[in-house]
Amino acid sequence: MPVNPVPDDALLTARMDLERGCFRGAPARVILLSEMRGYFADQAACNEARARGDQAVYQVSWLEPGSGAGDLHYGLGRISPGRVGREYFMTKGHLHAWRPAAEVYIGLQGRGCLLLEDETTGQGRILPLDHGCMAYVPAGTAHRTMNTGEEPLLYLGVYPAAAGHDYGAIATRNFLHVVVERGGEPVMIERAAFLKGA
Ligand code: F6R
Ligand code: ZN
Repeated sequence: MPVNPVPDDALLTARMDLERGCFRGAPARVILLSEMRGYFADQAACNEARARGDQAVYQVSWLEPGSGAGDLHYGLGRISPGRVGREYFMTKGHLHAWRPAAEVYIGLQGRGCLLLEDETTGQGRILPLDHGCMAYVPAGTAHRTMNTGEEPLLYLGVYPAAAGHDYGAIATRNFLHVVVERGGEPVMIERAAFLKGA
């Protein structure tokens, strides 16, 4: 069996800056509310929030220690607390370009959840991603994270180096479900029902 080349020592360890919600010395991208148009189901609420000023919804920084067949990559996400109407601040969401790639999520700080949607059946589910929770994203599953609490949500995602990210499918059709606040708790409902006023 071929063995992955061992990465440099510097890549074998990482430091998380839990205040800023990123890996020290790693690249990061910040996603603004103005870039999330079309992702939130409630367009009117999104426009209203946008009219009050732009702001960072989330950021992700990532580390890629190796790129061999068995290597792993990881991303540290930080979602700001906030809502657009009844929808929580969330990530754009994606499928892995290599569909068999699963991922493990670990909640580090704050309260949140993960929306999963099976690409083939459309079945949706929400998993808790509070501080101390682990969640598994199975193969072929679209995934999006939301902050359901009052402080920043920090979480770590670990995925195969070969996973790749397919944002196109979500940008085109979005998720079939939305997660909204009802009675202080996150609930998952069908997007179509939400748009009809459920
Ligand atoms: C990586 C992964 C996470 C996300 C992060 C930001 O496969 O699932 O690290 O990249 O939660 O979300 P997206 O990538 O959807 O903007
Ligand atoms: Zn992923």
